[in-house]
Amino acid sequence: ERIAPARLPAGVRGYFEGGAEDEWTLAENRRAWSDWPLHARVLRDIAERSTATAVLGERLEWPMLIAPTACHGLAHPDAELATARAAAATGTPFVLSTLSNRPMEEVARAARAGCWFQLYVYRDRGVTRELVRRAQAAGCRAIVLTVDTPIAGRRERDLRNAFTLPPELTLANLTAAGPPYSTPGSIDGGLMGYLNRLFDPALTWRDLEWLVAESSLPVLVKGIVRADDALLAQRLGARGVIVSNHGGRQLDGAVPTARVLPAIADALGPGEASRFALLVDGGIRRGVDVLRALALGADAALIGRPVLWGLTLGGEAGVRRVLEMLRHEFSVAMALAGCKWVAEISRDLVAPRR
Ligand code: FNR
Repeated sequence: ERIAPARLPAGVRGYFEGGAEDEWTLAENRRAWSDWPLHARVLRDIAERSTATAVLGERLEWPMLIAPTACHGLAHPDAELATARAAAATGTPFVLSTLSNRPMEEVARAARAGCWFQLYVYRDRGVTRELVRRAQAAGCRAIVLTVDTPIAGRRERDLRNAFTLPPELTLANLTAAGPPYSTPGSIDGGLMGYLNRLFDPALTWRDLEWLVAESSLPVLVKGIVRADDALLAQRLGARGVIVSNHGGRQLDGAVPTARVLPAIADALGPGEASRFALLVDGGIRRGVDVLRALALGADAALIGRPVLWGLTLGGEAGVRRVLEMLRHEFSVAMALAGCKWVAEISRDLVAPRR
């Protein structure tokens, strides 16, 4: 993170790094994890231990997924293929964005175990339905419906930079839909203009019900920050929620995810991660943050920007390095907190800072 942004053109740097308006949520996401100091257990024989876990029946080498982020072609010419290969090499599921520069079929092949597909709902339901159909056919293992983006947040860095996609980068999942679906660079207002023109601002819980009925894959809802919404998603047939405020890029002032996670976990109650997954993202930068997320009730966490920095600096190897560093940190944090297995990570390991 210290090196990669400086290697990027100003517009791309602002797009990757930035958040909405005052970037309060962006900063608080990261800070809020440290509001949960760790109360480690000692003398517990951690000689033999494992970071492996399972989410929705899928084995993970560690409780981490790669969050969906748009347009990896801005970071590296291999784009999402590099990310998918690094994900496969480290046993980390890759949640592929609707707005990728490589088509989901190629990415799913590169991810080997298959990827998860993040869905944005277009006003044109024919376009949306086709994305779902292709994700199923491509062997994606879950659909992640992003619900915090009915319109674009005001990302002021992008406004100042008049940031838009370079014309040679197209949205590969939307090639068949043609321009302007595949060519955000051709729309006034850049990517924010694209969202506002093409995504459906009338999205409701009924659309979640529609997607659950339409899709043979498990559906997760990304962008939940309230316990009542998490319960409603569960009641309507979602197989999981991702507690997220879109990395501080949508509603500035939104509560940091580390602060709301425990209340959401309590509302959902102790459940089996094979039946309903509670995931979280936002500001996770260290192995101890992953430990804290699990102690607060998450089954796994996701990272967004760190993957983009690794991709910028080293393509597949760079992403792999980021994931390996974080996984090693997590393994050390588990051991020093007295946990052999992921299942031993319990709420009493953290208490709010006074
Ligand atoms: C995102 N995010 C995102 N989310 C989503 O559902 N679909 C998308 O296409 C994107 N695109 C995107 C682009 C960029 C550049 C960023 C930084 C983020 C949000 C992402 O999935 C995730 O919620 C946050 O990035 C998590 O926060 P951290 O780890 O970046 O702090």
